[in-house]
Amino acid sequence: MIDSSANSPIVRLVGVEKKLGRQKVLKGVNLEVRAGENMVIIGRSGGGKSVLLKHILGLMQPDAGEVWFRDQNLVKLSEEQLVPLRKETGMLFQNGALFDSLTVGENVAFPLRERGNVNDAEIRSEVTRALKIVDLPNQEHKWPSELSGGMRKRVALARAAIARPALMLYDEPTSGLDPVVSDSINKLMVRLGEELNMTSVIVTHDMVSAREVGDRIAMLYEGKIYIVGEPRDVIESQDPIVHRFVNGISDASDAIF
Ligand SMILES: Nc1ncnc2c1ncn2[C@@H]1O[C@H](COP(=O)(O)OP(=O)(O)OP(=O)(O)O)[C@@H](O)[C@H]1O
Ligand SMILES: [Mg+2]
Repeated sequence: MIDSSANSPIVRLVGVEKKLGRQKVLKGVNLEVRAGENMVIIGRSGGGKSVLLKHILGLMQPDAGEVWFRDQNLVKLSEEQLVPLRKETGMLFQNGALFDSLTVGENVAFPLRERGNVNDAEIRSEVTRALKIVDLPNQEHKWPSELSGGMRKRVALARAAIARPALMLYDEPTSGLDPVVSDSINKLMVRLGEELNMTSVIVTHDMVSAREVGDRIAMLYEGKIYIVGEPRDVIESQDPIVHRFVNGISDASDAIF
């Protein structure tokens, strides 16, 4: 038998539409994320990238369309039925939110504790392992307030990855970080994906990150996926809309006043 699972989609969005307030944010998003790939999503601020991730997580329901995780359409599932699927997905939120009243070790352990049926010794060894992967060995006892921005992101990454999700969603993992720290986060995302055999969806403004981490890049534009392809094809695209975004060129309609 030919095993084609390496290329089968793990996530599939079909005609996803979503209105929030008076604004139609998603206007028919079609996107397939293949098992094992790093899919980067780029697009303008306020364009609906975080909203899109929330649909993949099942935290938001579309007004129309389908959101598939493997062979299940999340739109048809109850909150209760979503619970086991959410355990297969890790999320690095845009603000990296750590719990300030918990130590680094307790933060990283959180998803395992929530899951239950894991004993303390196992939890300790998993936390040690996760902190090693993110290059923060022996930092269990620190408090979030004692960490730099880049360290906080890495702790949040360890927390998101500790339960070894099949799918990892990253919302702006490098925003607010200097180029050197961003580079270490980029490398870490690639390494985590390989070591834990994960599929990743990475939302970013950072074209350096997109190029380094992405197996493919998709651009969200006016509520739809405007282009999807290998990084070079997207980055070197001569399409004026893609070209302007990738190269950070504004046009008259971008004027603030
Ligand atoms: N819960 C909500 N209720 C109402 N409007 C919302 C909600 N969440 C998002 N929006 C709106 O949807 C639009 C898209 O927001 P979203 O956060 O997805 O943008 P984004 O592409 O992630 O932007 P950024 O790059 O700045 O993070 C925005 O206009 C935002 O105001
Ligand atoms: Mg966002």
